[in-house]
Amino acid sequence: MAYAESGGLRVLGHGYARMTQMTDAALSSHDAVRSYQVVVIRGDGIGPELIDAAMLVLDAVSQKRGGFELVFSEHEAGAGLFLKEGVSLRPETVAAVKEADALFKAPVGLPDVRNADGTEAGLLGGLRVGLDTYANVRPVRLLPGIDAPIKAEPGSIDYAIVRENTEGLYLSRGKGVGTSEVMIDTMLISRKGTERIARFAFELARSRTGAPEDGRRRVTCVDKANVLSSLAFFRQIFDEVGVDYPDIEQEHLYADAAAQALVQQPGHYDVLVMENLLGDILSDLGGATVGGIGLCCSANVGEEHAYFEPIHGSAPTLAGLDQASPISQILTAAMMLDHLGEVAAAESIRGAVDVVLGDGVVVLDASGRPNGGTMAVARAVADAIGTS
Ligand code: IPM
Ligand code: MN
Repeated sequence: MAYAESGGLRVLGHGYARMTQMTDAALSSHDAVRSYQVVVIRGDGIGPELIDAAMLVLDAVSQKRGGFELVFSEHEAGAGLFLKEGVSLRPETVAAVKEADALFKAPVGLPDVRNADGTEAGLLGGLRVGLDTYANVRPVRLLPGIDAPIKAEPGSIDYAIVRENTEGLYLSRGKGVGTSEVMIDTMLISRKGTERIARFAFELARSRTGAPEDGRRRVTCVDKANVLSSLAFFRQIFDEVGVDYPDIEQEHLYADAAAQALVQQPGHYDVLVMENLLGDILSDLGGATVGGIGLCCSANVGEEHAYFEPIHGSAPTLAGLDQASPISQILTAAMMLDHLGEVAAAESIRGAVDVVLGDGVVVLDASGRPNGGTMAVARAVADAIGTS
């Protein structure tokens, strides 16, 4: 096991668990150690090396800060499993995630591993719908030291896309109907699904500090209410929920106009809420504006369960080469710690990432690959984590 060397390793059934080591200070404090069960999916392509890198950082933050431990259990899932067993996700993995405090997941999927209908063999149905993690939170933040393709300073782009995760056009996955001449997918927007995603977006805005441009808390409803009745309905429900949030500025934006606005005036945005497919597309666009989706993390959150993953794919051509940037997976680890309530530890990871990028210790080339390689980034971030 690649990260066995730095801590105790306990093998649990089909997987393993690793107790993070506690610092002397933490051990002597007599405080109860907060313990979290985390399922790990190492994924396909570059996934395993991203997980190794993020684990190194998680180990460093738990050792330096103390007070909590993460107990990991690994489950195989994704295209690799599909090739072996014909399924990309085993039911026992979903059951384990339901029992655990969180799932920490790398990218999965391989371009040639496909279902009979031509779609990729992935985990979306099993995890996002299966766990009812209806809110996909995708922060778009310009980090220090990143050469953004648009004119912007660190701090001037800092918004979150809230992508509805359990319905919309993607609910049609595996259910498209048609003939050899025509195929139809259906967009489903429900009142309940829209109410809860709108409420989530408003609550998220309350927890943030407002848009970089003017410091105002703002939720932007992104839709195509001018064309589709399903998305006019989405907008109507958003407005209804918004009545409960008079403290938050509210606005509408068509999705096509959003693609322009997120490039031309990104500092205006704080939280944007939208249907599944629109969130998929616009979060990649947002990622591009801050240096590429290789830097972008996400949380999939529901009432009962949550899981955490980068927003990009498994980049199979880079697999095993120690060339991929692990920043997305490391920031994903920070989002998981936020969710677990270890906010100070999460902040110290984000702070360390900012430091290594801002000081030029880690430099990314034009295609987003770091100098020194994947694990070197992880070691630099781990070293930069503070203890306070
Ligand atoms: C994402 C990804 C997935 C999606 C793919 C891998 C199916 O692009 O998380 O954004 O479309 O949601
Ligand atoms: Mn995507």
